[in-house]
Amino acid sequence: MHKEAFEQTLVLIKPDALKNSLTGYVLSQLSEFHTNLRFAGTKIVHVSRMLAEEHYAEHRSKVFYPSLIDFIMGFAHYPDEPWKRRVIAFVYQGPEAVKKIRDICGPTNPHIAREQRPGCIRALGTIVPLKDASGKVIGERMDNLIHASATNSDAEREIKLWFNPVDIPPSMRSYPTEINNDHFYFKDGKLSLTHAPDSICLLAPGDVVWKSDLEALRLLYKGQPSPCSLETVAAKYLVNYSQED
Ligand code: GTP
Ligand code: MG
Repeated sequence: MHKEAFEQTLVLIKPDALKNSLTGYVLSQLSEFHTNLRFAGTKIVHVSRMLAEEHYAEHRSKVFYPSLIDFIMGFAHYPDEPWKRRVIAFVYQGPEAVKKIRDICGPTNPHIAREQRPGCIRALGTIVPLKDASGKVIGERMDNLIHASATNSDAEREIKLWFNPVDIPPSMRSYPTEINNDHFYFKDGKLSLTHAPDSICLLAPGDVVWKSDLEALRLLYKGQPSPCSLETVAAKYLVNYSQED
């Protein structure tokens, strides 16, 4: 099979879509019948602050960033029901996966989506005014229902951030994997090869991991410059690890 047939993209069904019971609608729009794309992986994720911040790292300096993090973590839609705070993550695979799904999503801003692309998924989204304690409008939040990777390199970064290789059937994996031979532990933002009380085991010998994650962990352990941060690698192994941020 040609490489193009293995193109992949990350899709997130955001908390506003879950709350408004639009999951089925969104999945129908993305179905294989309409898109010629297939599910390669799926998981329900309670989004930690670390994962949210890694996912939206490119927006860290923007004024809307704090509300974007609150939104993707589910605080905006489930302020008093933490057990409902989640997104559904998917890997879709097939020819032109990135472009096809971005087209079906439509423009980022739901108002523009309604004007320019009625019928696209984000035309069903809303813009929510953000107010300070006195009720003055200080910004806005775009509740646009769905995330889809914007480019192939974004897709690779995002799929590796949300998914382990073993979440995806071996014949559907698009990025190189390796079998790990060491223990890697994480505690207080630091990496260690030996266990200490309250440290979390990110990787154990025999685990199948993204080759790029392993290369990054080896460099980080030696204190050498790495193409990605420790948080970028650790966030995925901590998915659904605990209820805390
Ligand atoms: P995602 O699929 O969520 O990544 O959206 P996108 O790729 O269409 O847009 P982008 O990556 O530029 O922005 C990420 C998210 O930040 C968007 O989904 C919006 O929720 C939010 N966002 C982007 N631009 C603005 C803006 O100008 N104002 C506000 N309030 N939010 C924005
Ligand atoms: Mg984006």
